[in-house]
Amino acid sequence: MRRAMADAEVGDDVFHDDPTVRRLEEETAAELGKEASLFVPSGCMGNEIGVGIQTKRGDALLLHRHSHLLMVEAAAVTELLGRKYHPIDGDRGRMLPADVASVLDASNAGPDRIGMVEVENTINWGNGSIYPLPQLESVAKEARGRGLPVHLDGARLWNASAATGIAPATYAAAADTVMVCYSKGLGAPIGSAIAGTKAAMQEARVVRKMFGGGMRQVGVVAAAALHGLKHHRGRLPEDHRRARHLAEAVAAIPGIRLDPREIETNIVIAEIEEPHDRIHAFVAAVEAEGVRLVHFGGPGRFRAVTHLDVDDAGIERAIAAIRRAAASVLRANR
Ligand SMILES: Cc1ncc(COP(=O)(O)O)c(C=O)c1O
Repeated sequence: MRRAMADAEVGDDVFHDDPTVRRLEEETAAELGKEASLFVPSGCMGNEIGVGIQTKRGDALLLHRHSHLLMVEAAAVTELLGRKYHPIDGDRGRMLPADVASVLDASNAGPDRIGMVEVENTINWGNGSIYPLPQLESVAKEARGRGLPVHLDGARLWNASAATGIAPATYAAAADTVMVCYSKGLGAPIGSAIAGTKAAMQEARVVRKMFGGGMRQVGVVAAAALHGLKHHRGRLPEDHRRARHLAEAVAAIPGIRLDPREIETNIVIAEIEEPHDRIHAFVAAVEAEGVRLVHFGGPGRFRAVTHLDVDDAGIERAIAAIRRAAASVLRANR
């Protein structure tokens, strides 16, 4: 990847004449079955652009309560874009089509004008859960049937596809705009894209510039993304296998709660037994052994993510470190 970056041909992407960015945008659009795509610095910016080009100030976004777009991006959506939320529940990040339909019907009569439906696949807060395709398609049908656009936050869409064998374009067909990241499982240092129609991507360029996301000789970074797309997608099932193994081992550790059957991709979220405030000491004890978990997903919960820099030996190290921390921190003051 570093060599590809060093060798990249570059231009000025603000003038849309960086050949490596153009190639990445074409390949990404083709992967997602869309007319065009736009390279952006981060997944957040890709999502904000999706919202910005398809909704109006004051519109509400119908989404799951635990969407990344709400949990992390609320300041951008409400303060910078002036949109609001209509969050609903659903099993591990997945909304039921009937719930979407009833909210949309009620919103016609109420003050909360819904301008877009947003879905995530895979779902970060949902333990890396995958939206079953028929459910995703039905949610989209409820939105589109009422003339509303759908934005898919596909930060880890590559993982959903690797796990199910369903092409990214098949998932993306349920959405008008799709955001994908090169910087997560694919291992690129920076970069995401938003895809949609050609006209939508022209608008997207304007909003990207507004957010300060216009980039110059950025082919060096696009080359890393191209390398990740070509060489690192095929290995995503390894991450999923390791996450399952990690989850099964962690589930057997006294003091930690986790249902390993929930692990579908590369994210493992678990919860320590109460009192939950020991989570900080627990995460610190694991980190002291060189294994990084994050306190994430609620009180007493932590997240581990498998990725291309973690091999089988690394997983065993992680399991051993978590076991020791559980014994010392979680069991000590029972
Ligand atoms: C589901 C989801 N969407 C969007 C993002 C934002 O991506 P970035 O960190 O590149 O802005 C993330 C980051 O973790 C994510 O998990």
